Amino acid sequence: MSEAFEPKILGLLCSWCAYGGADTAGVSRAQYPANIRIVRVMCSGRVDPLFIARAFENGADGVLVAGCHSGDCHYISGNSYATDRFTAFSGLLDFFGIDRRRLKLAWVSASEGTRFASVVAEMTEELRALGPLRLKVQS
Ligand code: FES
Repeated sequence: MSEAFEPKILGLLCSWCAYGGADTAGVSRAQYPANIRIVRVMCSGRVDPLFIARAFENGADGVLVAGCHSGDCHYISGNSYATDRFTAFSGLLDFFGIDRRRLKLAWVSASEGTRFASVVAEMTEELRALGPLRLKVQS
């Protein structure tokens, strides 16, 4: 009997909002799948597309980039940079044969623990349906 597939998700969360949202989810005991591993970054605008590429290369089935809602970025426009990079990088995923649904961008405030939990739950379900990421890497 084979075990059910459990996706590995890397969460790159901005320190000021989304990470706070994850913390609030924990404090308020909001339930969400344990499939996510979180790395705290100072701002969603700090997420270099190479971080995402490396995550996929090293076994992540999905990557969640999450930051402050529009107008709430502590560095003024970091989340707009993140949006622009996300749009550009999503197109490159097609080139590498990676389904775009494996990369998600979400805005979560520090008070939105329930929202954080639902973003993770939805992404986990979507990735379960997609199955494991199988990259065709040439060496
Ligand atoms: Fe949160 Fe910039 S500080 S997105």
